[in-house]
Amino acid sequence: MSYPDIRLSRMRSNKIFRTMVRENRLGVEDLIVPMFIHHGDNVRNEIASMPGQFQLSAENAAEYARELFDCGIGSVLLFGIPAKKDPTGSDSWDDKNGVIQHALRTIKKAVPEINLITDVCFCEYTDHGHCGVLIEKKHQMTLDHDATCENLALQVVSHAKAGADMVAPSGMIDGGVGAIRQALDEADFCNLPIMAYSAKYASSFYGPFRDAAQGSPQFGDRQSYQMDIANSDEALREVELDIQEGADIVMVKPALTYMDIIRRVKDTFGMPTAAYNVSGEYAMVKAAAEKGWLDEKKIVLEILTNLKRAGADLIITYHGLDVANWL
Ligand code: PBG
Repeated sequence: MSYPDIRLSRMRSNKIFRTMVRENRLGVEDLIVPMFIHHGDNVRNEIASMPGQFQLSAENAAEYARELFDCGIGSVLLFGIPAKKDPTGSDSWDDKNGVIQHALRTIKKAVPEINLITDVCFCEYTDHGHCGVLIEKKHQMTLDHDATCENLALQVVSHAKAGADMVAPSGMIDGGVGAIRQALDEADFCNLPIMAYSAKYASSFYGPFRDAAQGSPQFGDRQSYQMDIANSDEALREVELDIQEGADIVMVKPALTYMDIIRRVKDTFGMPTAAYNVSGEYAMVKAAAEKGWLDEKKIVLEILTNLKRAGADLIITYHGLDVANWL
């Protein structure tokens, strides 16, 4: 009895066949690009630890949004850097003067076709840099999740009124997604979806972002509300709760060293799943590419394709404009 000659390379050695049997594809329609919106006019500050990324005032952000949309990017994710910070982060629900509200109106007017997703959190808006309201418990300041939920409700309704197409709560606040869903429904925004940062780890990969958004905690860290990097089962519990509370998309963040979590979340829930390719992951690639140690284009396309393979349906990435131009 003779066996056929098994050669797994047979399909690989022909480019057309290889492409035909490719299991995962990266498309520009999978990408969401973050933007840092600075208060004031004529602002365009390059972020030192994130080459190619800028803090932009609203009208400059509108120009960037136009460029992105014309390259095929359908959605952007907005972070605000307000003029004034206070203990509760009240700029974030200021209908009239809020930095994000102003940007939403400005970008909507200039690029009505693009989807505007707003980051919903307080760390960029509070003077202490934590993601909500603090209270003192046993001589220690801790996050008051219930009080923060009330302010989350104010923030999302204000964003919705200013033109947000989706809201993305990033604070890992207990009950936050439910409070947001209820507030939106009561304010007649039943069709506005929620992308929840469901499994968000207390990660050191956010370092450059904290320069960019000026939202570093002034004391302590975020270990009490973001997830322990060593945990995996807990991510599933977090995701399950967010789905029950009304999340339309669930997110895993960071992305690269958390691909196992992306796969578990996708397999367990079958929900639209987002991966956030965060600032530190971007900075590492940029730094190595600047030194000529890595081929930037090849590395970025490999990383983002691998995120699709891991189970991500959508990817939030600072590489978005480059990728759109390459694809
Ligand atoms: C919090 C928020 C953070 C990021 C997105 N939303 C920072 C944090 O939790 O400390 C990080 C994103 C990145 O690193 O690219 N509003």
